[in-house]
Amino acid sequence: MSTKKTIAVVGATGAQGGGLVRAILSDPGHEFNVRAITRDVTTDKAKELARLGAEVVAADLDNPESVKKAFQGAYGAYCVTFFWNHFSPEKEKDNAKTMAEAAKAAGVKHVIWSSLDDTRKYIPLNDNRMPTLMGKYKVPHFDAKAEANQFFTDLGLPVTILNTAFYWDNFIYFGAGPQKGPDGKLAITMPMGSKRLPGIAAEDIGKCALGIFKAGPKYIGKTVGIASEFLTVKQMADEFTRVLGQEVGYNDVPPEVYRSFGFPGAEDMGNMFQFKRDFEKEYTGSRDLNLSKQLNPSLLTFRQWLDKNKGLISIK
Ligand SMILES: NC(=O)c1ccc[n+]([C@@H]2O[C@H](COP(=O)([O-])OP(=O)(O)OC[C@H]3O[C@@H](n4cnc5c(N)ncnc54)[C@H](OP(=O)(O)O)[C@@H]3O)[C@@H](O)[C@H]2O)c1
Repeated sequence: MSTKKTIAVVGATGAQGGGLVRAILSDPGHEFNVRAITRDVTTDKAKELARLGAEVVAADLDNPESVKKAFQGAYGAYCVTFFWNHFSPEKEKDNAKTMAEAAKAAGVKHVIWSSLDDTRKYIPLNDNRMPTLMGKYKVPHFDAKAEANQFFTDLGLPVTILNTAFYWDNFIYFGAGPQKGPDGKLAITMPMGSKRLPGIAAEDIGKCALGIFKAGPKYIGKTVGIASEFLTVKQMADEFTRVLGQEVGYNDVPPEVYRSFGFPGAEDMGNMFQFKRDFEKEYTGSRDLNLSKQLNPSLLTFRQWLDKNKGLISIK
């Protein structure tokens, strides 16, 4: 039997968890075994992880007993929630509590909780610069994660709170990429003004997480904010112009216009970008580029990420 420590990874078939599973499997030091958690071990994605060498197990965050079982015997656990699957901050908090309790029950030695900032520290609910959403949030998918930090800390878990950043992959999979306007010209639409947006390749979040696990106790009890670069939307649009060989502009809409776009989560996203725009100094200040690079020396720049992924950008 292997004596290597096992890291249990939630969301293993997804962006963050998938990045971590692959990072662990391709780590030259082979320091850890990886247990990939999925709701369905029979999907192609799950089978691919097994083929690559992961132990693949079934668990559902909506079923606490299954999560307890999946964490059993693990040295580490990577915990992440899936706001965009259900749009419910309350469910996000329930799911985080489930993972914290499962980690406690299993005696996990190092938990990484993938979190985000509490925007209400900067914009209290009675501040009308942006609407309050769902009665008690400014940016529900941020605020709920931040609230959930306490489930991990209150139980006295050996936890690293990992504050992640905007995935550049949103330009491919989340409808944020260049789109043709009524004038036929390509543009990226975001309410960021000329402020810098901390960003990262999704796969690099998992690689940073591996760096945190490898560092042992160093980051236990700490909050670590990661990003690869802080770029203005104009700078990113210019990179798109370069790789696509056609002009990509920046459509800088006001946040209230973005909030009115009507797609699911538009208000949440509009508030999120407004927070990042209006609190650029604080938000960029909470993401450490040097530390991110230290944790993950192969951290991609936006240019490198775009060169690698340009074939996946579909222009509408
Ligand atoms: N997009 C961004 O820029 C960004 C930036 C920072 C943070 N985030 C946060 O990242 C989180 C999502 O992480 P992600 O992007 O890695 O997700 P993802 O790529 O959408 O992956 C979701 C994975 O989670 C699994 N899953 C879904 N519901 C589950 C459940 N009830 N129990 C167990 N597993 C479940 C699914 O796997 P199976 O189907 O195999 O079970 C799926 O592969 C969100 O909360 C979001 O707010 C996103």
